[in-house]
Amino acid sequence: MLRHLLLVLVFFLSSASIGRVGSHNDSGEWSCESASEIHVEAQFRPGIITLDGHADDWKDIDGFEFSLLPALDPHEDDKYQGGKMTVKALHDGHDIFFLLQVDGDYAYSMGNSNKCPSVALMFQIGESASYRNMGGCSEGRDTCTNKTCKGHEVDIMHFSIGNAIPGRLYGGNPIDNRDGNGGDRFGHLVDLYGWTPHCRYLDGTGPSGNDTSAQNDWKGAWWHSSFALHSGFVEEDSPYASDGQKGTYYFEFSRPLRTMDHLQQDTQFTLGRSSEMSVGFWYPVDGQPWHGSGHYSISCDWVPLDISSSSSMLMTSAPGGSGNASSTFALLLSVVSLCLSVFMGYRIFKPKSVPFTPIENL
Ligand SMILES: *[C@@H]1O[C@H](CO)[C@@H](O)[C@H](O)[C@H]1NC(C)=O
Ligand SMILES: *[C@@H]1O[C@H](CO)[C@@H](O)[C@H](O)[C@H]1NC(C)=O
Ligand SMILES: *[C@@H]1O[C@H](CO)[C@@H](O)[C@H](O)[C@H]1NC(C)=O
Ligand SMILES: *[C@@H]1O[C@H](CO)[C@@H](O)[C@H](O)[C@H]1NC(C)=O
Repeated sequence: MLRHLLLVLVFFLSSASIGRVGSHNDSGEWSCESASEIHVEAQFRPGIITLDGHADDWKDIDGFEFSLLPALDPHEDDKYQGGKMTVKALHDGHDIFFLLQVDGDYAYSMGNSNKCPSVALMFQIGESASYRNMGGCSEGRDTCTNKTCKGHEVDIMHFSIGNAIPGRLYGGNPIDNRDGNGGDRFGHLVDLYGWTPHCRYLDGTGPSGNDTSAQNDWKGAWWHSSFALHSGFVEEDSPYASDGQKGTYYFEFSRPLRTMDHLQQDTQFTLGRSSEMSVGFWYPVDGQPWHGSGHYSISCDWVPLDISSSSSMLMTSAPGGSGNASSTFALLLSVVSLCLSVFMGYRIFKPKSVPFTPIENL
């Protein structure tokens, strides 16, 4: 019952988010009317996600749907024509997982990320960090530092797939993490932070010098539904499918809820609390390479990301029933019978050990 109610609510929320996200202001002034109810929820669902780019293990997780409007000029007429993006999230008490799903004709050009789709996640770190202008620090490129822009930090994960084999894992790896920065030389799934669009750095690097304590804490993989499933792609299989095939792109990510960052370069997730997030999407429309600021966004403001603690999950999304008195009683009964069988086992095996005790006593 509760589950159905939740589904109805999700449907209502996602349809409410369509069309109300942002309106154009001809004077060039920024105007954003994001629906206040939109959010993404990460429930506690341990042990169901394999980080491989495939979405079948997410089928029972409710998604949140967003229209993709141009990030710099969120005008409904210029939205991404391929369809909406579905964002799903969950956590297992240690890591948080995200699935981004968006329909798109297959486009891939090995070694040229700007001719491939690309995604980014952005999170608020500093309390003054606005969605607009990636933190919204008013300093320019030459004057932004961790002192002058304090409080405006945003955390960014960017995955450019031009060198990433579908289904393979990229992100934090021992070689780049040994260097102490957020880079990923293999697949370009990088861990960044920033204060403005012009002041973005790999974790551990920055205008006031480098600090080699940083890490790339993200991992992720991508997939397109037109691929044939088999034991695994290698680079020679590129471009993996023929150009222009209809289908859906999947991008799957994970990160520990907490990281060892001590420089305000990672957001920290807390169970039972809400974080602010956004998702960016780049696509080579009509085969034209995209440019950095030509991306779509799921909203023209932060989208709250609610991280449920495990107790609230038991009430809302236990598979099947909804945690009622009879199932609680059944659990109690099984615990009691387990204890009973352990006790019986002890009673049965105890006499067997009797012959040995006299020997010990000698
Ligand atoms: C655009 O924004 C400006 C400043 O906020 C406001 O004065 C103007 O009325 C807005 N125009 C439209 C068409 O909404
Ligand atoms: C900091 O690290 C970056 C990336 O590894 C490098 O390009 C830059 O030269 C380093 N800066 C200093 C001052 O060492
Ligand atoms: C700014 O960054 C530098 C280099 O990472 C670091 O040594 C310094 O402590 C930081 N300052 C503040 C105020 O965070
Ligand atoms: C409680 O759950 C059991 C088993 O899941 C189900 O048979 C029963 O109808 C439920 N009772 C109520 C009141 O929902």
